[in-house]
Amino acid sequence: MENIAVLGSTGSIGTSGLDVIAKFPDRFKICALSANTNVELLRKQAKIYKPEAVCVGEMRRDKGRWGGIRVYEGESGLLEMLENLKIDTVLVGIAGSSALLPILTVLDRVKKMALANKEALVMAGSLIMDKAAKNNVKIMPVDSEHSAIFQCIGSNNRKDLKKIFLTGSGGPLLKVKKSGFKDITVKQAINHPRWKMGKKISVDSATMMNKGLEVIEAAWLFNTEIKNIEILIHPEAVVHSMVEFTDGAVLAQMGACDMRLPIQYALTYPERSASGIKSPDFSKIKSLTFYKPDFERFPCMGLAYDAGKKGGTFPSVLNASNETAVKEFVEGRIRFVDIPKVIGRVLRLHKGVKDPGLLDILEADKWARIKTKEMLRCCR
Ligand SMILES: NC(=O)c1ccc[n+]([C@@H]2O[C@H](COP(=O)([O-])OP(=O)(O)OC[C@H]3O[C@@H](n4cnc5c(N)ncnc54)[C@H](OP(=O)(O)O)[C@@H]3O)[C@@H](O)[C@H]2O)c1
Repeated sequence: MENIAVLGSTGSIGTSGLDVIAKFPDRFKICALSANTNVELLRKQAKIYKPEAVCVGEMRRDKGRWGGIRVYEGESGLLEMLENLKIDTVLVGIAGSSALLPILTVLDRVKKMALANKEALVMAGSLIMDKAAKNNVKIMPVDSEHSAIFQCIGSNNRKDLKKIFLTGSGGPLLKVKKSGFKDITVKQAINHPRWKMGKKISVDSATMMNKGLEVIEAAWLFNTEIKNIEILIHPEAVVHSMVEFTDGAVLAQMGACDMRLPIQYALTYPERSASGIKSPDFSKIKSLTFYKPDFERFPCMGLAYDAGKKGGTFPSVLNASNETAVKEFVEGRIRFVDIPKVIGRVLRLHKGVKDPGLLDILEADKWARIKTKEMLRCCR
C-alpha cells in the first residue's frame, strides 16, 4: 500500500484526485488531507477516507468532531503534519504560492509528487527541481498540458527534444474584441468553455496568464529554455500539447478534457489502468485547428515570457503581482483590464536577484504584493 497525502483536497484538483484514488483501494491508503477554508467538506472527506491527520487553514469551531483523526491548523500546522507522517506519494492541489513551503517540506519525505500546482514552480522552479533531484523524488506533472508533454517525450532522449507546442483552448474570452475587455465581469471571466476549475486558475485562463505560467512551468519540468516553448491556440482542446524532436518528428497527446486522466496517470505511472473516461469521438470532430495566440489582446502571456526569460526573482514577482491583482478583480475592486497593466508596471520596477535562494524569492513575492496593492490604490 502507498501512503498518499492529498493537499488541497477540497478544491477542483483535490476532489478529482480523491475520485481517482478511491478507484484503487488496494494500492493507495490516504494518510493526510488538507484544506484552507472548506472545513465542512474536509470533515466529510475525513469520514470517508479516514486519514491519520488533516490540516485546515483556520479551525473556527467543531474542533472535537474528527473521530480520533489528528487535526493540524494553519501554515505551520501543515508543515508539521507533513513532517510527522510517513508519506510515499503526495498530490499537490493547493492553489497559488501557499503551496511553495509545503512542497519544499514534503520533498524531504516522499518518493513521488503528483504536482498540479504551477505557481510554486514559477516562483521557485530551481529550488524545487534541485531538491527533487537530490532526494530522488519523481515529480509527475498533473497539469494536462505538462502531462501530455511528459507522455510525448516518453522514453525518448531529452537531448533530442527540440520544441514544445503548448496548446490552449484560448479561454472564455477567445472571441471577445479588445474593446469589450474593459466590461468583462467575474462571471464571464470564470466561465471556461472546456474545463471546470477553481476561480483563480479560471481568471488566469481568461487573461491567458495561465498559459504564460505554464510556459515557465514547462521550462522547469522539462529542463528546456523558454524560447523553445511555443503557445498554440487550439479551441477544440483535443490535443493537450505536442513535442517536436530534432529530426522533425512531432508527437501529440490527445484525450478528453477531464483532469482525472492526468491525475490518474501521475499516480499510477508507469502503469495505465482503466479510467472509465470516454475518449473523444473523432468521427464527430470535424477539424482540429491551431493558431498563434494574440499577444496584444492577452498581454499577460508576453509578460510571462519576459519574466521567464529574465529568470531570477522576476517570475516570483510576476506570480505574486498576478495573484494579488486577480484577487482584487474577483472581489470587485478593479477591472479585468487592470490585471495585465499593474503586473507590467510592477515588473518594470523590479530589480531582479540572480540565482535567488528561498529568502530572495519570498522577499520578491512580498515586495510585489505590496507594490501591486499600492499601484491599484493609486489607480482607483
Ligand atoms: N483545476 C484544474 O483543472 C487545474 C488544472 C491544472 C492545474 N491546476 C493547478 O492546480 C492548483 C489547484 O487548482 P484548483 O483549480 O484545484 O484550485 P481550487 O479549486 O481553488 O482549490 C484549491 C485548494 O487549495 C486549498 N487552498 C487554497 N488556499 C490555500 C492556502 N493558503 N493554504 C492551504 N490550502 C489552500 C483550497 O482549500 P479550501 O477550498 O478549503 O479553501 C482547496 O482545497 C492550482 O495551482 C492550479 O493552477 C488546476
